[in-house]
Amino acid sequence: MTCPIVTRSTRQVRPMAANNQERSFTETETNQKKITICFTLCNNVGELCKALEVLKDHQVNLHHINSKQNKERREESDFILICDNSGSLKGAMEGLKNVSKNLEIISVPWFPKHTSDLDKVVPKTFSCDKELDADHPGFKDDDYKKRRAEVAAMSRNYKHDQEIPRVDYTDKEINTWRTVYSALVKLYPDYACERFNINFELLQTKCGYSPDNIPQLEDVSKFLQNRTGFRLRPAPGLISPRDFLAALAFRTFYSTQYIRHYSRPEYTPEPDVCHELLGHVPLFADEEFAQFAQEIGLASLGAPLEYIKVLSRLYWFTVEVGLWKEAGETKVYGAALLSSAEELEFCLRNAEKIKTLDPAEACKEKIQPSKIQPYYFVAESFETVKEIIREFATTNPRPFDVKSTQSVEVIYQR
Ligand SMILES: [Fe+2]
Repeated sequence: MTCPIVTRSTRQVRPMAANNQERSFTETETNQKKITICFTLCNNVGELCKALEVLKDHQVNLHHINSKQNKERREESDFILICDNSGSLKGAMEGLKNVSKNLEIISVPWFPKHTSDLDKVVPKTFSCDKELDADHPGFKDDDYKKRRAEVAAMSRNYKHDQEIPRVDYTDKEINTWRTVYSALVKLYPDYACERFNINFELLQTKCGYSPDNIPQLEDVSKFLQNRTGFRLRPAPGLISPRDFLAALAFRTFYSTQYIRHYSRPEYTPEPDVCHELLGHVPLFADEEFAQFAQEIGLASLGAPLEYIKVLSRLYWFTVEVGLWKEAGETKVYGAALLSSAEELEFCLRNAEKIKTLDPAEACKEKIQPSKIQPYYFVAESFETVKEIIREFATTNPRPFDVKSTQSVEVIYQR
């Protein structure tokens, strides 16, 4: 399993005081439990010792130190220190002003750094167990609401590496699945992208995908782990964008287990097991797509809320309702479309609703998960989608970067 490491952003995210004497450090900056300090030193013998002496004099405990040659001035090195706020940090910062240049405190908020850290996150959900929105087909069906809540509750105490609880689906639920499944499999060969179709066939032969069986998340998760390292994590409902995207950084996908209301098998205003297993899972079995989804997740870690809002719109207009071209033909890769027979046909039969993918335009659009989309964005290819997301990631205003590795490590660089 790959995990992200934190690195100092190579982007200039805020102007650094050229002269340390112009820089004052606020109580908020120096009152954090652990802080990350950056500064620049000349490559002269003893320069680092002077800085470390300052920390020692102020009883500041050092946890981590990392250095790198300055990119512009080769006679200088940039240092990153992670310190305990154990002594007089404010005093230490004052002292460091006299022995270093470009002194900065970097603020790195907490975010998960390993898949198991997802256990520390109580994911915020937008739907309640018993109260559904008035536009939900099950809104007036008490039996449905009770059953939905029962299945959702099975995910409540889930912990990393546990077996995902199995749901004993009723005949009525299997019937709903059958209706959804049968309508979609007729459309996939012509409408879905090639990567999806290849993996969907595999899921049929190896993972129990069939009209008469709702596959269990546990079995599908094991299949995905073997293919791409992706895993499913049971979710009680629609997860907030920050929590949802953060999980993708660990190739983990929050999946609901309950099923849509039987009265409207072609429609659901919220994610359900049909949406997750039919819409999303086939592409998570594709290594390149898995890598792409993970990159979106990595971009979200520790990012400011405004950035998360825009990133989740890009996610929506690509991973959920995206189209790309294959040999000149428009194909669907968006999971919301690949789990709705009605919209799958609609999106490709209404050419006037398809626009060329423009991230600036997509970023401004409102997400409307419970409605047929007013229009769709098509990219020239999967490569184009990846380039767009990578380009967007370079605009991340967080003062650090993260990258994936086999273990968690924090490295900063200027
Ligand atoms: Fe989805």
